[in-house]
Amino acid sequence: MRKHNIRLHPLGKEIRVNDQTPLIDVLHEYGIEFPCGGKGTCGKCKVMLLDGEIPMSDAHRQKANLLGLSGDWRLACLSKCTGDISLEIEQFNHLILADESDFEFIPASGLGIAIDLGTTTVVAQLVDLSSARVLAVETMLNPQIRFGADLISRIQSCMDGNAAEMTGMIRSSIGTLIERLLAKHQTAIESIVLVGNTAMQLIFSNSDVSSLACYPFHVSDPGSKTFDPKELGWKVQVKEPIHFFPSIGSFVGSDILAGIVATGLHKKDDYTALIDLGTNGEIVVGNKNHIVCASTAAGPAFEGSNISMGMRAVTGAISSLELTNGIIESKVIGNTDPKGICGSGLIDAVAILRKLDRIGMFGEINSGEQFVPLSAGVGLSQKDINEFLLAKAAIAAGLSILTKNLGIQIAELREIYIAGGFGSYINLENIVLTGMIELPAEKIHKMGNTALIGAKMFLFAEYGITDEILKKTRHISLEGDAGFQDIYVDKMLLQ
Ligand code: FES
Repeated sequence: MRKHNIRLHPLGKEIRVNDQTPLIDVLHEYGIEFPCGGKGTCGKCKVMLLDGEIPMSDAHRQKANLLGLSGDWRLACLSKCTGDISLEIEQFNHLILADESDFEFIPASGLGIAIDLGTTTVVAQLVDLSSARVLAVETMLNPQIRFGADLISRIQSCMDGNAAEMTGMIRSSIGTLIERLLAKHQTAIESIVLVGNTAMQLIFSNSDVSSLACYPFHVSDPGSKTFDPKELGWKVQVKEPIHFFPSIGSFVGSDILAGIVATGLHKKDDYTALIDLGTNGEIVVGNKNHIVCASTAAGPAFEGSNISMGMRAVTGAISSLELTNGIIESKVIGNTDPKGICGSGLIDAVAILRKLDRIGMFGEINSGEQFVPLSAGVGLSQKDINEFLLAKAAIAAGLSILTKNLGIQIAELREIYIAGGFGSYINLENIVLTGMIELPAEKIHKMGNTALIGAKMFLFAEYGITDEILKKTRHISLEGDAGFQDIYVDKMLLQ
């Protein structure tokens, strides 16, 4: 069979593939994402053909035209390799979302591995159980990304007959991640724990996800799952069974349970909240007696999806904006020219545009135009602002309904922790200005990857530690609250 070379810029990689290889099959291994699952509708997989030829089918040309792509732009998801080519990849190296926070623990002997299996990113840490020191960290994009960026596309893809492939793919990738972690530490492992959202847990466990696809989104077995390394195909010796922690509800998984442990929310006298602004926005409110939680319909806007120039918090993304003497100044991750805007930049942009009265209280662009420029060609469209308002209203309404369920006001919360991929870039004042969280900024804290911190803490705990938390935790369906629609619409306004 004929072989061809593909050069990837600016990654500096060269790969050799068989004739007619679909680019989607090889590029996802290099961290390139396919948010619409390769349907040719989102345009986020576009690549610039620098050299060589990629023949375009009629369908490819039609989709490219619809997305306004011309000349040498191609949609990687609809392209095949038929000769040597050089491509400039629009997406960039992603940032590693690891965490090395300190926490209290009882020393044990040996090594353990904590894994946060996220919809977008997988992070694994090798931990010395005598000191809680992280000896090695490995991360990767979740390879299931080629089946879609968000949970709904993944669930749909499972139902379309890809479940077994997605299970095999994630098990084998995590197995490789563990081998990389252990490359310099050839020793038996005491324990391996995993956390992740409910869909990730079910897919990893080879369980049916179809109940997550339709109302009432009931999961028959959200409990913890244990595995033997052999059944997962992992070449690792581990003394305890591999343990995937239980989910709390249909869309609130063990990553949030780990977040509760990481914040210590379940031990506090005062009411505290945890908001995870990840691909799927989850909120927890509670104290040592009662905890309520919910997943919101925030959608992936904070991850840059559904925003015309949106991107994740990676090189080239505007991560923050500031107003200096009436001029908007931007900070770009990696100190390069801006290519797009990530969640934290989006929050800043809306807060600043409102401050400058360039958008009104309904988010309408006051000039009547459809696009507001921010910096070096990057800006927001009216649709982007509307997407942001929907997302921020979902968080604000969720917080309002959960506090109401506990019989308290938002103002009574002692503090709120924010977790999420772009957490470190967030400007808390702007979160408050947009009305997403109606508390003074001093009460809001950024906490990084709470799922990973919690997973690490699980390495030192009895597996039963979560039983007590689950007993006092209620999963609430926000849409089931009689006042939800009114509150949601109200929270869409900007002050
Ligand atoms: S256009 Fe969406 S992945 Fe290619």
